[in-house]
Amino acid sequence: MKPLPSAHEVLVARRSCRAFDPTRPVDKAMVQRIVELAARAPSGSNIQPWQVEVVSGAARDRLVAAMLAAFDRGEAHNEWPYYPPQWSEPYLGRRRALGKALYALAGVAKGDEAAARAQMARNFALFDAPVGVVVTIDSHLAQGSWLDLGGFMMGLMVAAGGFGLESCPMQAPAQFAPVIRQHLGVPAERQIACVVALGHAEPGAAVNRLHSDREPLAAFARFHQD
Ligand SMILES: Cc1cc2nc3c(=O)[nH]c(=O)nc-3n(C[C@H](O)[C@H](O)[C@H](O)COP(=O)(O)O)c2cc1C
Repeated sequence: MKPLPSAHEVLVARRSCRAFDPTRPVDKAMVQRIVELAARAPSGSNIQPWQVEVVSGAARDRLVAAMLAAFDRGEAHNEWPYYPPQWSEPYLGRRRALGKALYALAGVAKGDEAAARAQMARNFALFDAPVGVVVTIDSHLAQGSWLDLGGFMMGLMVAAGGFGLESCPMQAPAQFAPVIRQHLGVPAERQIACVVALGHAEPGAAVNRLHSDREPLAAFARFHQD
């Protein structure tokens, strides 16, 4: 077995994979270990607010088919706001840059709504990932616990990277929260936060050449001393 990469190497290599190889499943014991490691995440007062539903195989295929059908019926709906109602700079510009780069690689021409919709639908197919980790949280918990979920999700992705897997954190499937609840028996009082797709990258897929920029350190960090 290859030695595990360092945390720094995994952080540098992680990116959102948007084309997985559907012919390469992920070993169940490995997925269990990834989820177990992610739960080492810190949480306020150690309340461990995350609860996950892991889908693979036929269960994953049924959920994907149901989300795609709901997308076709126009049922996408956000139960909680991920983005602000009004966009402003510098966030709008960064968002547009990402969208433009993704569409260019996916072959979606400006104004081609059918192609844009087809690319959007790829989200609900989990980009062909063989495993989806649906991250949920009790709705009566406060905003602070959502911070804890972010740490948990990062843990999932770093642990997966340590095993040589790729990942994609996804809010888009949460737009079909009722479908997810129904298929996985999730009670109404649990909110669907995100899905983290896991698997191996499809070699040669153009969308996987996307490299997202980051602002330089000096643009977002100030170091105070003396
Ligand atoms: C909470 C969260 C939700 C996201 N949801 C989606 C999504 O639904 N679909 C998608 O293609 N990417 C999604 N992303 C991925 C971001 O677009 C991506 O992290 C960002 O562009 C930076 O690129 P990188 O992850 O490749 O470094 C999400 C990321 C986060 C953290």
